[in-house]
Amino acid sequence: KKKLILDVDTGIDDAIGIILAVKSRQFDILGITTVNGNVSLDTATRNTCKILDLLGEQEISVIKGADTPIIRNSFFEHRVHGEDGLGGALKNVEVNKQPDDGFASDFIINSILNFTNEVTLVMTGPLTNLALAVKKCPQITKLVKEVIFMGGVVQGVGNVTPTSEYNTFVDPEAAKIVLQAGFESITQVGLDVTRKVLLTEEHIQLIQNSTLADYIRDSTSEYRKRYFERNNIWACAMHDPLAVGIALQKDLVTSEEYYVDVETKSEICDGQMVCDFQNRLMKPANANVCLDVNAEAFFNLFIRIINS
Ligand code: BDR
Ligand code: CA
Repeated sequence: KKKLILDVDTGIDDAIGIILAVKSRQFDILGITTVNGNVSLDTATRNTCKILDLLGEQEISVIKGADTPIIRNSFFEHRVHGEDGLGGALKNVEVNKQPDDGFASDFIINSILNFTNEVTLVMTGPLTNLALAVKKCPQITKLVKEVIFMGGVVQGVGNVTPTSEYNTFVDPEAAKIVLQAGFESITQVGLDVTRKVLLTEEHIQLIQNSTLADYIRDSTSEYRKRYFERNNIWACAMHDPLAVGIALQKDLVTSEEYYVDVETKSEICDGQMVCDFQNRLMKPANANVCLDVNAEAFFNLFIRIINS
């Protein structure tokens, strides 16, 4: 089994990513680390614990991380994820599972040092925890097996500002640190790809476990409504679950190595991801950039795992 750390700002789609990772039974989940993002650190942590309660998983460690971006203020996304971050679905549910002691970036460092070249990191929130880890212990870039992160957009428009995707917008300094750190294997999956992976009511109807089907239907209902208002389809993008999907099955996506950076000093483009497709900067590639996805294959895998 792959040793996995999931780093999340749970969030509607982060939660579905957690469900996918846990239900797959294909990972040895070392821990789930949390970060400030869609919601506050405490809410992201509580939501993560609620999802583990829902799954009946009390043994997986949850470790809290950064409660703000590296130098900026928090920027919550309640418009998309609701006040509670899970679209209201588990609002009145008491949380049983409690987070462990420790700090996310230390947990990431120690896990990588303990299991050299064995740890896969899947990051589905702002990259703050990983950036702090790299600053404290730069050698992890050579000792981690791989990093897969959901963030940025390289061929299209943003979802917070015209140019920028949420995770890179919230902590662009962290994204820059991570991209420039020299990771040997780092895969970026951005909005231009994840927007093609649209969960619809038809998918939800294929889920046999009624607790999970009801949860996913409830938590995504406002999210799908928002999408309907813009695009006339009741659907929502599986941004974060796709990052988990790639850890399960690489060939869900096509990708190429490019040099990628993130804007941090612009009046209107902060958080923009820039991919040097034509190697204008003549810099060596630093990331494996996802270019396309087989959405049908993703949903086949997703439904099969949720039903297993
Ligand atoms: C990303 O931003 C968050 O709102 C989602 O959870 C996802 O990680 C998409 O831009
Ligand atoms: Ca997220």
